[in-house]
Amino acid sequence: MNHAALTAGFARGVRIAGTGSAVPDGILTNDDLARMVDTSDEWIQQRTGIKERRICDKPREGTLTLSRLAVQRALEDAGLDGSSLDLVIVASVTGEMACPSLACRIAGEIGATPAGAFDVVAACSGFVYAMNLADSLIRVGRANRIAIVGCDCMSSIIDYDDRSVSILFGDAAGSAILEADDDPTKGSIYQTMEADGSGWQALYIPRRENEIAPGDEENPIRLGCLRMNGREVYKFAVTRFQRAIKDGLEKSGLAPDEVGAYICHQSNARIIESAVEKLGLPSEKVFVNIDKFGNSSAGSVGLCLDQMRKSGRIDESKPTMLVAFGGGMTWASSVWRH
Ligand code: ACO
Repeated sequence: MNHAALTAGFARGVRIAGTGSAVPDGILTNDDLARMVDTSDEWIQQRTGIKERRICDKPREGTLTLSRLAVQRALEDAGLDGSSLDLVIVASVTGEMACPSLACRIAGEIGATPAGAFDVVAACSGFVYAMNLADSLIRVGRANRIAIVGCDCMSSIIDYDDRSVSILFGDAAGSAILEADDDPTKGSIYQTMEADGSGWQALYIPRRENEIAPGDEENPIRLGCLRMNGREVYKFAVTRFQRAIKDGLEKSGLAPDEVGAYICHQSNARIIESAVEKLGLPSEKVFVNIDKFGNSSAGSVGLCLDQMRKSGRIDESKPTMLVAFGGGMTWASSVWRH
């Protein structure tokens, strides 16, 4: 692999200075769900690999508190404080308010003012979108240090009477501090951020009657809650996920075992297993924590990154591949050289 060719034209690179994550203490098990709707631990484990997920169950606990905790832990890990940041980017679809953005509130609370702050809405792909954006801004010299956070409290938008979605999702936040490095071959050496809006109704959150997707009107709908066509999303996800990994490997000239770690969005263990099988990925390098945390949307990749890094499961002598897909539909990848 020629790192220099992939990053030609950039005077500087990017490094991960620190990571952090946060999950609520509340645990919702499959058996708990089986007491709420017609489902079973066996069905959920077989179809998704999920055993339990974390959910916010304390007053005022939510996207803001988890995001703040994750970024504070990332700053602590980096040995930095908020005032050293130039920008805060938060990826989420469950921000408490449309205005102000989560990023503004977090930047204010961690002492980052006057750092810029904005939110990214790319559902489960959000963390990788934020990471790619931050990498690009640092590379071209527009910023020196950026905090990125992916956080979703999916429990705030789940209709717990709807078994098609309630079994999948949990709450989590993951954060990373990215900063400039003199070596331009460090950071994202290949990345994609793509979308296909024509499939939007497979995964959406209608807030008003007139936002309900054509054909969905006859179904029982709770406004403000996530609607998902599981089969459609599954088909889309399997294909896109594998293509994103394959493209990432090919475009950066890597064989599957030349990647030190695969950090994949945790949507369904079967989707990850099928990529491992079809693409011949070394399974010991593909991290899976969906059994304990479910699908935490934008929180998932950042949570995995932090857990892998802190447990020494990222071989930094080799590039790391990050891949995600989600509502929009969106998908994104990054091949990251440490
Ligand atoms: N418990 C028991 N039975 C159920 C449940 C449940 N929770 N949900 C559905 N069923 C039943 C269905 O009614 C159906 O019964 P029928 O055959 O009598 O009609 C049967 O199980 C099969 O239903 P499917 O929907 O076909 O089940 P499938 O095998 O597709 O699994 C699942 C469903 C797990 C949701 C799967 O489609 C999936 O993982 N899809 C991808 C979802 C995903 O990744 N979403 C996140 C996207 S990322 C983001 O941006 C948020």
